Amino acid sequence: MNRARDAAQRIESLREEINYHNRQYYVFDDPKISDAAYDRLLRELTQLESAYPQLVTPDSPTQRVGDKPLEGFDEVVHRLPMLSLDNAFDEAEMGEFERRIRDRLKLDGDEAIRYLAEPKLDGLAVNLRYEQGKLVQAATRGDGSRGEDVTSNVRTIKAIPLSLQGDDWPGILEVRGEVFMPHAGFEALNRRARKTGEKGFVNPRNAAAGSLRQLDPRLTAKRPLSFYAYGLGEVVPAPIAEQQSASIRRLQQWGLPISPLHDVVTGVDGCIDYFQRIVQQRDELAYDIDGVVFKVDELELQQQLGFVSRAPRWAIAYKFPAQEETTQVEAIEFQVGRTGAITPVARLAPVFVGGVTVSNATLHNMDEVMRKDVRPGDRVIVRRAGDVIPEVVSVVAEKRQAGARRVSLPTACPVCGSDIIKPEGEAVARCSGGLYCPAQRKQALKHFASRKAMDIEGLGDKLVDQLVEQELVDTPADLFDLTLAQLSALERMAEKSAQNLLQALEKSRSTTLERFLFALGIREVGEATAQSLANQFTSLDAIEEADEESLQETPDVGPIVAAHIHTFFRQPHNREVIGQLLAAGIHWPAVEREPVEDRPLSGKTVVITGTLSMPRDEIKQILQGLGAKVTGSVSKKTDYLLAGDAAGSKLAKAEKLDIAILDEAALQDLLRQNQ
Ligand code: IVH
Repeated sequence: MNRARDAAQRIESLREEINYHNRQYYVFDDPKISDAAYDRLLRELTQLESAYPQLVTPDSPTQRVGDKPLEGFDEVVHRLPMLSLDNAFDEAEMGEFERRIRDRLKLDGDEAIRYLAEPKLDGLAVNLRYEQGKLVQAATRGDGSRGEDVTSNVRTIKAIPLSLQGDDWPGILEVRGEVFMPHAGFEALNRRARKTGEKGFVNPRNAAAGSLRQLDPRLTAKRPLSFYAYGLGEVVPAPIAEQQSASIRRLQQWGLPISPLHDVVTGVDGCIDYFQRIVQQRDELAYDIDGVVFKVDELELQQQLGFVSRAPRWAIAYKFPAQEETTQVEAIEFQVGRTGAITPVARLAPVFVGGVTVSNATLHNMDEVMRKDVRPGDRVIVRRAGDVIPEVVSVVAEKRQAGARRVSLPTACPVCGSDIIKPEGEAVARCSGGLYCPAQRKQALKHFASRKAMDIEGLGDKLVDQLVEQELVDTPADLFDLTLAQLSALERMAEKSAQNLLQALEKSRSTTLERFLFALGIREVGEATAQSLANQFTSLDAIEEADEESLQETPDVGPIVAAHIHTFFRQPHNREVIGQLLAAGIHWPAVEREPVEDRPLSGKTVVITGTLSMPRDEIKQILQGLGAKVTGSVSKKTDYLLAGDAAGSKLAKAEKLDIAILDEAALQDLLRQNQ
């Protein structure tokens, strides 16, 4: 008997604790325990409840997932209609919104209107009905008058409390808000789907909608859904507050999450200001939003304003330009990049998306074209988010015309006719023409001239195209032989601009070793790697002569990059161009290597082998930080072998050569001594 009483008490306190941590996580964004500790609490509760099934209540945190799939969804008639919002797309339309309000309320010049401002979440609206503090029903918006009963699915969303906190809530409380899927969860879900050969979702909104409409709540429970409350439905007794802002804060006190970005702003200027603040933050948010919603804050004023057809006069959605639109694929063509990579590109009927007119979108590579099954003539969804290159998201399958044919990878480069090669297992196909291919040559020259490389001002893309097409320039070295007469004869090139370009070329002759290395366009050698190489070797000669193993001593340079660098400098053609560039007067100051002061492993050569607790690259960087030179194979020159678990032949060889062996604990000791 006593044991049962203890169990009841423990169950009660576990529930409180779990609900508390749910609120900390979802409502206050301030988790107080680890996921593992949370899981332990839930496990303990589950075990106790299965020992005492009579103590299970419907609002227990263990009861979020039911055990049987539904046959279908019942219809729910909304007691108060779920409205939609009018949209504004620019400041002028925001101005009109406020003017209409002022006119209707007959406000004089200096009476300011306050608005509750919050992001417009891109998910789907639900109505949650709490009776006596317990969640009894959840419904989708449907057509605004009738929705679907999705209670069992909504109960699985941990951000939504099954019972309200405190005791001062009205007996009937309908909460409205948005169910959405944060990016991280969306991406994980799609990764899992792809692994099992399923299609995945086009965007987080569709994923959220699809998850809520699952007939098996056990599946919904595995979907990473979240929720923010933004309004009310039926409330008895009403009201719970006098302002919109005060009502949502009361919802928060009762354990419902609300957007942490909500704010109260004054007048249309305040709205525009808020909109701009959110635009700035948009890319960093963990979930998709498609605009900002403004609601007159005083509920009394909301009453006076009322609504027209299905939208309130007191609220508006100030929308971002759509990031996704549909349009038609006119053709699929293949572009050749600097390193010969062949990229399929969709030529589109121009469409306004993400704030600009888009007429091309990348299809990345052939695997992607196959996976998305994009064909010329298809209607497609195109996405342009932020500064990202526009891409084809998916095909609108229903709109496909009979006879639409797949494209296949060409066997010859569309620009130079050389063979296209696609190594087995790699996604990228390449033109094998190298610098014989005018497309690659143009890209190489554009890269050479670019700001972070040789920084040749005035040598833009169009000009490079002309120079290559008129066969005035083949290699970067030819740039330095251009004459005023040749340049002035080009299309749209005044003598003044020609002179400026010659001056810019002159100026670029004086550069740095890292810029020059980067400008050469060696595969996989970006700015950071060029900098490391310059630092490590200090001279171009040393880099040219280095073998793959010594190249790998450079931080960030692994076997693949080392092979690219090594191969590049073995090509007579590349050596010749470099020679010509140096003959043309390109020069840089001698590189001062960063002084290697007396560090614990200065002058020591270390080899790493076996499995360690950190990625190799990180360990390599740590060792280099301690002054060591890290190489790939054990020889007489090796001073230490850092051996992890399952070390094999290198360990044997080191033992044979009597080389000191370090284990990870010894490395940790060294680190500790040098902190
Ligand atoms: S208020 C009467 N606030 O936008 C006001 N809606 O077009 C009705 N939405 O169906 C909605 N975030 O799905 C409101 N902070 C927010 C919102 C929001 C997203 C969605 C909601 C609604 C649609 C209205």
